[in-house]
Amino acid sequence: MRLRHVKNAFEIIENNRDIAIENPEEYKGRWRESFNKPQDSSLSVEVGCGKGKFLSTMSEENKNDLFIGLEMMSSVICRAITKVKEKEITNCLLLNKDCEHILDYFKEGEVDRIYINFPDPWPKLRHEKRRLTSPRFLEKYKTILKEDGILRFKTDNLDLYNYSLEIILPLLKDDKRFGEVEYASDTIMTEFESKFKEMGNPIYFIEGSFK
Ligand SMILES: C[S@@+](CC[C@H](N)C(=O)[O-])C[C@H]1O[C@@H](n2cnc3c(N)ncnc32)[C@H](O)[C@@H]1O
Repeated sequence: MRLRHVKNAFEIIENNRDIAIENPEEYKGRWRESFNKPQDSSLSVEVGCGKGKFLSTMSEENKNDLFIGLEMMSSVICRAITKVKEKEITNCLLLNKDCEHILDYFKEGEVDRIYINFPDPWPKLRHEKRRLTSPRFLEKYKTILKEDGILRFKTDNLDLYNYSLEIILPLLKDDKRFGEVEYASDTIMTEFESKFKEMGNPIYFIEGSFK
């Protein structure tokens, strides 16, 4: 069952290479021109985009901008690919890649916004390096974000929030914002966010641009 599921995921990825970019290194520094967007259009990246609800909705609502999601699990990203394909979205690309190598895919200062939505908390200290808000990942985000580009992180995990606050806040400019999310009726939510919110969990965020 598991094998068949994975085989199906690989098929979905292989059959949709217009969306599921195989060699993102080839587009480094050229994403906008390669996908017919003006140089002044906004490029947003979601790391660990999961099944793509947030990214596909953002893409639909901001057709002039480009959205790119990284997700290392093929069995998960295939759901995002199917969503984007079925909705005929043309400004959303998906990379079945580990965020570890993000510097190979985006040039210095190329990205306008980075979203880290409900990343795995990796609670054990020996796994700290895997947290998508650990210092080594933040260093990479800072490199690819343009001056005044925005980093936004959301989680329902209080320990991860507190860990991230301590690391991220000193790196951000004074106009940073953080705390518990106050929802507006039109907030675009991720899969995990809808689930946690329905359960009544408080959701925390950190947003700002690097110094
Ligand atoms: C808890 S899920 C959240 C998914 C989605 N952002 C949401 O809010 O619904 C975290 C996702 O991040 C992915 N992920 C974790 N570490 C990653 C990495 N280093 N590179 C790419 N994806 C990663 C996982 O495979 C998983 O699908």
